[in-house]
Amino acid sequence: MRTDQPKMIYLKDYQAPEYLIDETHLTFELFEDHSLVHAQLVMRRNPARGAGLPPLVLDGQQLELLSVSLADQPLSVDDYQLDDSHLTLHPTSASFTLDTSVKIHPESNTALEGLYKSSGMFCTQCEAEGFRKITYYLDRPDVMSKFTTTVVAEQHSYPVLLSNGNPIASGPGEDGRHWATWEDPFMKPAYLFALVAGDLWCVEDSFRTQSGRDVALRIYVEPENIDKCQHAMNSLKKSMRWDEETYGREYDLDIFMIVAVNDFNMGAMENKGLNIFNSSAVLARAETATDAAHQRVEAIVAHEYFHNWSGNRVTCRDWFQLSLKEGFTVFRDAGFSADMNSATVKRIQDVAYLRTHQFAEDAGPMAHAVRPESFIEISNFYTLTVYEKGSEVVGMIHTLLGAEGFRKGSDLYFERHDGQAVTCDDFVKAMEDANGVDLTQFKRWYSQAGTPRLAVSESYDAAAKTYSLTFRQSCPQTPDKVEKLPFVIPVALGLLDSTGADMALRLAGEAAAQGSSRVLSVTEAEQTFTFVDIAEHPLPSLLRGFSAPVKLSFPYNRDQLMFLMQHDSDGFNRWDAGQQLSVQVLQELIAQHQQGRALVMDERLVVALGTVLADDSLDQAMVAEMLSLPGEAYLTEISEVADVEAIHAAREFARQQLADSLFDALWKRYQANRQVSKATAYVAESEHFARRALQNIALSYLMLTHKPEVLAAAIEQFDSADNMTERLTALAVLVNSPFEAEKAKALEVFAENFKDNALVMDQWFSVQAGSPLPGGLERVKALMQHPAFNIKNPNKVRALVGAFAGQNLINFHAADGSGYRFLADLVIQLNGFNPQIASRQLAPLTRWRKYDSARQALMKGELERIRASGELSSDVFEVVSKSLA
Ligand code: TRP
Ligand code: ZN
Repeated sequence: MRTDQPKMIYLKDYQAPEYLIDETHLTFELFEDHSLVHAQLVMRRNPARGAGLPPLVLDGQQLELLSVSLADQPLSVDDYQLDDSHLTLHPTSASFTLDTSVKIHPESNTALEGLYKSSGMFCTQCEAEGFRKITYYLDRPDVMSKFTTTVVAEQHSYPVLLSNGNPIASGPGEDGRHWATWEDPFMKPAYLFALVAGDLWCVEDSFRTQSGRDVALRIYVEPENIDKCQHAMNSLKKSMRWDEETYGREYDLDIFMIVAVNDFNMGAMENKGLNIFNSSAVLARAETATDAAHQRVEAIVAHEYFHNWSGNRVTCRDWFQLSLKEGFTVFRDAGFSADMNSATVKRIQDVAYLRTHQFAEDAGPMAHAVRPESFIEISNFYTLTVYEKGSEVVGMIHTLLGAEGFRKGSDLYFERHDGQAVTCDDFVKAMEDANGVDLTQFKRWYSQAGTPRLAVSESYDAAAKTYSLTFRQSCPQTPDKVEKLPFVIPVALGLLDSTGADMALRLAGEAAAQGSSRVLSVTEAEQTFTFVDIAEHPLPSLLRGFSAPVKLSFPYNRDQLMFLMQHDSDGFNRWDAGQQLSVQVLQELIAQHQQGRALVMDERLVVALGTVLADDSLDQAMVAEMLSLPGEAYLTEISEVADVEAIHAAREFARQQLADSLFDALWKRYQANRQVSKATAYVAESEHFARRALQNIALSYLMLTHKPEVLAAAIEQFDSADNMTERLTALAVLVNSPFEAEKAKALEVFAENFKDNALVMDQWFSVQAGSPLPGGLERVKALMQHPAFNIKNPNKVRALVGAFAGQNLINFHAADGSGYRFLADLVIQLNGFNPQIASRQLAPLTRWRKYDSARQALMKGELERIRASGELSSDVFEVVSKSLA
């Protein structure tokens, strides 16, 4: 924790490093009450910074310096300067070695950054700036070095000793200790360093690359989890093959390792050759992990593997360029998941998530560009904007260049910059150069924050057979006050005739029609496109596949939306038409609730969803997505002032109406699918995900009717399912029901059966924390006393507190402010031992602008209380101060 005021760092101040580190030789001596780190750095003056020998300023935090030698000369305290984050030395020649020894305390490191202990094993997390908590170093991504690492630890407790690269030597030591040395032949920045020491078992496999090299694959876990690694291993092999086929990228070391740890601030980390994962992102088997968890494991394994090229071989020059690796790698993992499962369903889920959460971030006090201009604490910028919007930006380049052009660009990027630390501009330049295009205006997506609005209007001239679409773009101002100039917005679209077929698309001035779905580039603040040979007034299908991260509006009426739901050739837009219809109907119900009138729902929503449900030819996962009403968080995001109670009441009313009106169809599909599930062993594949998704959403509607046969079905599914997907849904519908005895029994049985499985208990906590029934806060507080809860474990905090504040809006936003007070107390507590988690849990309070003035005052009051609570980490300080600014 710091005592001075944290300071802002600016992209415009970037300067190349004064010194370089060609080689890094580390020795770790791990003990129970401290660890020693010896570093030998082979350094030289950076020739790019000219002659002269300025002071060498090394980063280092929470290190106890034991000794330091420069060019083999031991230094005394007068030879260097030390403060709480730097060691400053005075080299006397352009090339030298630097030796330091420091003492650190991984055994009491609760921030889970640097070297720490998790469930008895030693592990590291160095991104973004954690390496400076391990040893004195130039801890910045443009300083790349060749690492050799020796780990020495007690043999019995830590039989497995791992680091990056290849194992080159190992042996016994004194006093029951042993050692191993690893060498990583690739230059890398310190944030990709990793070390693991523990009592681990591993699952082994191998992969033959396209050029015929065999790579050993190992997933290390605690012994009791050895039966939960197969899905991750399969995902890894699929990822390796996919990256060869899709991007021509081959793995480069002879060994690739994944280690699962229980205490981890994020999902996983792409350390070179030694990925470290949150156990929730590795472990999966039918009995303990849901379909969603299986898909998450597959996606995260792929994401971290893909970083080997997009992040490791080509890394970031500075942390303002974070989206260079994260946006691109999310784009890559999304493409992989789309190819492994249903592409349309993957797109629907990603867009629903982006529109709910990233749009909210973009409209709040922490809004920032994909490439931010400034930050106080880089850990706060691992955001939805950098990751998901960053991926959308790469996706728009893909849309504009086409698949082949994009591949030419990515080939050039990897070839040109292999082994370098580069910028977002370098990425775009490779795309431009490979395709002979100019993306200057497009690059505003990297520098301008905020979600653009795109208002579309039409006009049809029957006599001339012309149809015009006029696009008006604008972008709300964001806290950075950067001027918003027009974006390049690729709009994929089609025009439907009265039979629902796509019409041939010929723009005025073109010699002939060019297909029936195409991409227009909107580049002006206002721009009109005119189509010719349009024989009848068409219905436009706009922004197909969500071709740009914008808020598009077109004055559709409900009948037109129903028509698009049935006929649009673009599956994504069929779903989106249903969402727009639902939003219109729900907003009408919200208004009725606010006016104190009886709620009356537009029957057309029942008809539209009934049609979808009756269509056996549709992909069942699509049916499940279409049956899902827009969430409360999304309805909040699109409100001017969100009325928490009205949104909840309207949505629950609509769900009840749908359940009552569509009971027979839902029941039929539920029973049919449950029969298949009973007769089929669990398979983690897309057709099975689809069947269970429809079965489970049907059950959640059916349960609203409180019919005895549905209750019996839920209990049957809970008792006899052979997999967590069915069991957890059954538990959730019971928890959200008024059947108190059945609910209590199910919760008790579940906890008893799974009390030894932390990841399953996380799901048990989440289901209860997310229940909208009254008394939510008291339930959460009681659960925090449960023996399986542990506030030091980030997964537990996310499962209970994150689920409550993020998903249980009606309880969290209780009008008396009790939810806010609870969250603020928790953030103050977390700030004391894990700043990254504290700062992330704070996000719901930063959204205060969305609410009525009474809630705004309560939320701001809690933010002020946090600000005044004492010594704030830079993480929490930045979020609180920007939220109150
Ligand atoms: N680079 C990681 C990823 O693939 C992100 C990450 C993992 C991270 N652990 C972290 C970021 C801790 C900050 C702090 O997305
Ligand atoms: Zn990543």
